[in-house]
Amino acid sequence: MTIPDGYDVVTERITVGGLTVAVRHPRSAEDLIDEDEYARDERLPYWADVWPSGRVLAEWCAGQDLAGLRVVELGAGLALPSLVALRGGARVLATDWYPDALAFARANARDAGLGALDTLEVDWSAPPPALVARGPFDLVMGADILYENRHPRQLAPLITGLAAPGGRVVITDPRRPAAGELIAEMTETGWRHTRVSMRFEGRPDERGSEIYRHTFVRRPA
Ligand SMILES: C[S@@+](CC[C@H](N)C(=O)[O-])C[C@H]1O[C@@H](n2cnc3c(N)ncnc32)[C@H](O)[C@@H]1O
Repeated sequence: MTIPDGYDVVTERITVGGLTVAVRHPRSAEDLIDEDEYARDERLPYWADVWPSGRVLAEWCAGQDLAGLRVVELGAGLALPSLVALRGGARVLATDWYPDALAFARANARDAGLGALDTLEVDWSAPPPALVARGPFDLVMGADILYENRHPRQLAPLITGLAAPGGRVVITDPRRPAAGELIAEMTETGWRHTRVSMRFEGRPDERGSEIYRHTFVRRPA
């Protein structure tokens, strides 16, 4: 459970809900861009930063009673929300399509004294049977996972298949255009959607400081 070799690693101390985590991550996501990977499935190493939406989702987790809940994080990257949920007593599964992201997340969890973070390599376009087998989940969550046009049509059925009856879906998003399509697909297939606007207090990225927190619950039949 160590940091993978070959990275220029920096440590960022992030405090969320009273928990301070030394988040180790690669110094520069841009330096990790691999043209072969991109040619194969347009994969870009966005996992290597903690994004404003990830910090906002982690803050939200810190304010919830998640003890004993089954939680899955999609597109977790460095998985700060998962670490906070783990600290809160949830049974957490952090997922991403980059195995190295998950290795960093596990090492950061262990070094923060949170014990073993459960992880699974998952590509939304071909989710492994092991993911569904681990469900259903009381909380399906994700931060900044709607930044390409293909994401809503991959994620809507996946989320629906993973959420337990009575389960919740919480996605934080820096107002990316593709979010609208996910909301449309989910509401057409029986979900009720609410949105809360959150202010990110740290240094904003190109999307600014306003982050939306989307919550979906199933409409009663
Ligand atoms: C913008 S980053 C956000 C990372 C983290 N959630 C955060 O907020 O700090 C998007 C994440 O989604 C992951 N991702 C993108 N496409 C994916 C796919 N098809 N399957 C699984 N993960 C994917 C990326 O690897 C990356 O970790």
